[in-house]
Amino acid sequence: MSANWDYEKLHQYFEKRAIDEMKHAEILIGRILFLDGIPTVSKLHDIKIGSDIPKQLESDHFSEEGAIKAYNVAIVQAGEVKDFATREVLEHILSDEDRHIDEIEELQDQISHMTLPLFLTTQL
Ligand SMILES: [Fe+2]
Repeated sequence: MSANWDYEKLHQYFEKRAIDEMKHAEILIGRILFLDGIPTVSKLHDIKIGSDIPKQLESDHFSEEGAIKAYNVAIVQAGEVKDFATREVLEHILSDEDRHIDEIEELQDQISHMTLPLFLTTQL
């Protein structure tokens, strides 16, 4: 949608984060296979796509918060069963998610500081 609106900077930012998330999925699937599990890739959470940039950032923030909570729980569980290699994989992904939410909050702050129309002029 950002590309369609010609907000190239935002488009690149969203695309980079989406690629990060795809890499996380690849890493997690690899780890599950290594542990002789069967990854479930057919059950997805509802995907919320906002109709404008602030709503998109709000939805993404909500998703990142959920991911951070889930990774923190999984990291504790991996430690409890002394699977420190899996814990390390999860910790690495968690640090990416922390960065993601920080970047979203930076954009939300910029919108708040300079108003949406002015912010959007910086994203062309
Ligand atoms: Fe993320």
